[in-house]
Amino acid sequence: MPASIHTAVLPAEVLALLAVEPGMTVVDGTLGGGGHTRLLLDAVGPGGRVIALDRDPAAIERGARELAGRPIRFAQANFCDLPEALDALGIDRVDRVLLDVGLSSDQLADDTRGFSFDSDGPLDLRFDPTEGEPAWRMVNRLRPETLADIIYEFGEERFSRRIARRIADVREREPIRTSRDLARVVAAAVPRQKPPPRIHPATRTFQALRIAVNQELKSLRIALERIPTRLAPGGRLAVISFHSLEDRLVKEAFRNRQVWESLTRSPLEATPEEVARNPRSRSAKLRGARLAAPTVAAD
Ligand SMILES: C[S@@+](CC[C@H](N)C(=O)[O-])C[C@H]1O[C@@H](n2cnc3c(N)ncnc32)[C@H](O)[C@@H]1O
Repeated sequence: MPASIHTAVLPAEVLALLAVEPGMTVVDGTLGGGGHTRLLLDAVGPGGRVIALDRDPAAIERGARELAGRPIRFAQANFCDLPEALDALGIDRVDRVLLDVGLSSDQLADDTRGFSFDSDGPLDLRFDPTEGEPAWRMVNRLRPETLADIIYEFGEERFSRRIARRIADVREREPIRTSRDLARVVAAAVPRQKPPPRIHPATRTFQALRIAVNQELKSLRIALERIPTRLAPGGRLAVISFHSLEDRLVKEAFRNRQVWESLTRSPLEATPEEVARNPRSRSAKLRGARLAAPTVAAD
């Protein structure tokens, strides 16, 4: 397996927001290429520890190889199952949690996973290739109306109905199998625009299908409810999201003052310098919160 090509977004902002101290126990809920994990390991020092989770077995395998010898434990798990992952490691509470949701550059570059439009691999799009339904099966199975709703809601794609109708027409002749198949169908379905858009015409459709296949919003919603139950007093959570629906979930969760004290009035975003260095950071939004102090009931 090649070394990671993923560049961690908002590294300095994450560290400042989490205020990690030596000796702490920190969860990186989205190991990916391990960029943030390395920063967290350096911050906790030899007396602390990092628990790294990822749904993708390939990310866990790479992390275990590259970070061997550091104070880190790995679990291939959904971050919404953080309590179960901690139980399995015999850990009660943790001081900090980071979630950097979505897709890594390593997954995008792996032709067998189907995340990139020009891949001839199967249109899979699952973070965990053993869990749930691959995207090719979904696009060949769902009613066009349901497909259109998914593409509209999760992709914010204004041509969702045209795209769904074209998918339905094409699959009647032959099922859609590869990412390249789907990218071609989408490109043919959307009207030509002038000037041509900056992104590939299938970008929003792929994003929508990925979110649906992995039930990404559901995982995040559940994680936001469950993480506070395993944070130590004063514990902090930072979430980096790349989609407005995800950012809305985080914003709304952090509004609950019985649980959280928000540390970011508005989300932190990458500077123009970071965007120039790492274009993926363009749409990243970082929010953080500290566990609210329990209110003491008066006698
Ligand atoms: C943006 S990348 C993380 C990059 C990482 N912070 C770094 O610096 O390299 C997102 C990672 O989160 C994983 N992931 C996405 N949703 C997840 C979930 N619900 N539970 C656990 N891992 C998830 C993906 O498999 C992917 O490896």
